[in-house]
Amino acid sequence: MPRTIDWDGDGIVLVDQTALPEIRTTVVTDVDALVDAVRRLVVRGAPALGVAGALGVALAARTLDGAALDAACDRIAAARPTAVNLAVGVGRARAALPGGPAAALAAALELRDEDVAACHAIGERGADLLAELCGEGPLRLHTHCNAGALACVEWGTALGVVRSLHARGRVRHVVADETRPLLQGSRITALELAVIGVEHHVVVDGAGASVIARGLVDAVVVGADRIAANGDVANKIGTYPLALAAARARIPFLVAAPESTVDPATPDGRHIEIEERDPREVCEGPAWNPAFDVTPADLVTAVVTERRVWRPAP
Ligand code: MRU
Repeated sequence: MPRTIDWDGDGIVLVDQTALPEIRTTVVTDVDALVDAVRRLVVRGAPALGVAGALGVALAARTLDGAALDAACDRIAAARPTAVNLAVGVGRARAALPGGPAAALAAALELRDEDVAACHAIGERGADLLAELCGEGPLRLHTHCNAGALACVEWGTALGVVRSLHARGRVRHVVADETRPLLQGSRITALELAVIGVEHHVVVDGAGASVIARGLVDAVVVGADRIAANGDVANKIGTYPLALAAARARIPFLVAAPESTVDPATPDGRHIEIEERDPREVCEGPAWNPAFDVTPADLVTAVVTERRVWRPAP
């Protein structure tokens, strides 16, 4: 499996997420194409969006300067509103712009490399925590959307935890929600689990809570698009019902994400902008298509980052 996002010396190389499970790469060489790729979810998942944002600034700096460069950076940062990593990535490369285009590119490549290291650290820490919370023996896990290698540069956050546990021989089975309407669970997470050889089943989103209620999983582990200062977590629509079900069943609900997803400027979940996508992704008739929901901090057993285990609930 190639890296989800990388730089080939001339442009941003992306595994086109709209084509999955077929693996097809595409190269983006200008800002318009990048903004379009972000909006259409050719590149998606908070950490991958962060790297895309940073590399986008490097792309823009090759041909633009002054107000035009500023406008291009703003446009990239605003291409999707919920995942804070996009704006964080843009900000990181933008801060290096006084050093010229080469400095912006170096900052973006540094972010890319940090993401790889962060995912591995999250995986190990999350695996340690689940072993502590759930005891010995192979685990049955439940995840939503795709927080895997294909949402990051490689390895993944929630699926990074699954990978670390799998490497220890500690995964029995994974339930992956289908994730309507764009099917990140059945198209992307199921593909990743098959590639790494983890036994899994896809369920329709409506089955998630009852799978938990029937005692078929030991813990839920998901990624995040933005974590507010109080620990409220925005993630793909359909995450909140899993957290409710996990609390009812008294099983751990873990959020695995890099520190860059924690947004100190957002006090709580009410301040997180929820992306509204084209209703036609849902059906041809009247539809409402919020792409994310907010899980309140009191339902989160722990947020696992590359630096800490954070238990936001009092
Ligand atoms: O709309 P998407 O596919 O970008 O949504 C992705 C998610 O909700 C992921 O769970 C989140 O970004 C974490 S990815 C490590």
